[in-house]
Amino acid sequence: MSHVLIGVGGGIAAYKVCSVIRHFTEAGHDVRVVPTRAALNFVGAATFEALSGNPVSTEVFDDVDEVAHVALGRKADLVVVAPATADLMARAVAGRADDLLTASLLTATCPVLFVPAMHTEMWQHPATTANVATLRERGVTVMTPANGRLTGADTGAGRMPEPTEIGLIGDLLLDRASALPYDLAGREVLVSAGGTREALDPVRYLGNHSSGKQGYALARAAAQRGAHVTLVAGATSDPGEPAGVDIVDIDSAVELEREMSRRARDADVVIMAAAVADFRPVDIAGSKIKKGAEGPAPIHLDTNPDILAGLVQSRAAGDIPRQTVIVGFAAETGDEDGGVLDHGRAKLRRKGCDLLVVNAVGDGKAFGTEDNAGWILTAEGNETALPFGSKTLMASRILDEVAAVVPHS
Ligand code: CTP
Repeated sequence: MSHVLIGVGGGIAAYKVCSVIRHFTEAGHDVRVVPTRAALNFVGAATFEALSGNPVSTEVFDDVDEVAHVALGRKADLVVVAPATADLMARAVAGRADDLLTASLLTATCPVLFVPAMHTEMWQHPATTANVATLRERGVTVMTPANGRLTGADTGAGRMPEPTEIGLIGDLLLDRASALPYDLAGREVLVSAGGTREALDPVRYLGNHSSGKQGYALARAAAQRGAHVTLVAGATSDPGEPAGVDIVDIDSAVELEREMSRRARDADVVIMAAAVADFRPVDIAGSKIKKGAEGPAPIHLDTNPDILAGLVQSRAAGDIPRQTVIVGFAAETGDEDGGVLDHGRAKLRRKGCDLLVVNAVGDGKAFGTEDNAGWILTAEGNETALPFGSKTLMASRILDEVAAVVPHS
């Protein structure tokens, strides 16, 4: 059990924070909610008390005997500030301590996550930009907001990321016990995720069990480390939309190849996390295939392009910048020819990428699950174990390795 302090700012997105509180209480953590006075215009203290199971106060002069303005921050293993309004960030940057939340921020030594939510103009104002940069320099993780519907009819950057995503990043900070580095700022990261679908006729396809969760977790973590991320996504099952990520939908391996080869020309990092079908039907029937009297017709298959190997070749040919880091994945079961790692090492050599993430699959491991484990192999022969953990934690560890090899700009 960890101690999670949730600071709530005075913005309309405060109502969504109720789900974030639930996320942490359901995980068994002790949650203290510290709203600002303004936040209580949006959600009442009774709601926060009922959801957290703990008393709620906003003022430094409440419960003076418990010295709450010092104790709450000191005790916390994680502080989440959501919604972080422009005013709240400005006050945090100035080191103000005129309410319980800002006072607690001054005593917290644990990871701190700010989740901005405001109108686009306020988010893009130079004052806010400077405040966010200062917070990041001080080791605070400031989430990249989503693009989308704001209060009223307007849309744009500044929307608060969804509660599930805040929960994932909060859990990640608890697991890492440190801030998420902002080390991919200004980088272009291209990620493929999910499974391809190879059409047989207008209603049927050949597909696979990929949920897309690991690729989405990589896109999410890369965006939160400052990268501009494009996610080329095949079929997925409920991976949750990552805030601040451009998503391009594809169906088949041929479409995926087209998008990846075109977009890789501008990328600093390419991550092939998609589960690509190795084969596709030679012909796609124009109308639904009927049962027929003579039983099922055979399906003739063609081999799909090896997209990862193709990207490595394009880089060698100069079509993709020489310094682009290319990362592959390998889901292996091990067999009579060798274990999971042996197959991974052979695949790294065969594909020629810079890094290869190897997962053991089968027996309920990897596909569709929330957790993952494996190894990350480098072309130079380094092998790092990726211990069992959430796919978000795994993604952040993979990006630690990626950030270490991306050349400085
Ligand atoms: N991959 C790809 N194009 C394909 C197949 C796979 O780009 N046609 C990529 C995957 O996205 C992954 C890596 O190659 O990053 C390894 O995928 P995997 O299915 O394990 O490799 P295969 O080449 O299909 O090898 P195997 O013989 O083990 O099926």
